[in-house]
Amino acid sequence: MRLSPNGETQGVKDSDPLPVFIAAAEALSSIGIAHLELREPPITGTVGVGDMDPLASQLRSAFKGPLILNSDFDMTRAQADLDAGVGDAVAFGRPFISNPDLPYRLAEGIPLSPDDSATWFTQGPEGYVDYPAADEIAVKSA
Ligand SMILES: Cc1cc2nc3c(=O)[nH]c(=O)nc-3n(C[C@H](O)[C@H](O)[C@H](O)COP(=O)(O)O)c2cc1C
Repeated sequence: MRLSPNGETQGVKDSDPLPVFIAAAEALSSIGIAHLELREPPITGTVGVGDMDPLASQLRSAFKGPLILNSDFDMTRAQADLDAGVGDAVAFGRPFISNPDLPYRLAEGIPLSPDDSATWFTQGPEGYVDYPAADEIAVKSA
């Protein structure tokens, strides 16, 4: 299950999200939902913006299963939030589009390729399956 508690999403925006989403997270927890993902763009978000700082740390105790964080994460922010116990995992969206080997790059500290928003939601392979892996880039530039 994925919830977007912070800021406008697909025309939906809550004026006082915390009590609503605490109740939602508790309800999902009580019926045994496998995991809960929170899509929360920060106030400085680059695809959507939050109205306030992420609510994840305040929602953490309301959901007993794995809590997954999302939006505008890089390796540094992801590791910091995991270390602080804000969530159990981080989901990457755009970085996975442009870096097919994202886990490898994060593990090895290899710079990420930027994605091209002009090819989002287009037809065909361009912008979806034609971004090279780091090893392919290295071979080309050798
Ligand atoms: C091309 C594209 C398609 C997306 N489609 C969906 C979707 O169908 N459902 C959804 O919940 N989020 C969708 N998202 C949002 C992503 O799942 C993610 O929440 C967003 O990109 C923020 O994470 P990021 O900063 O790691 O990219 C989409 C994002 C992109 C760029």
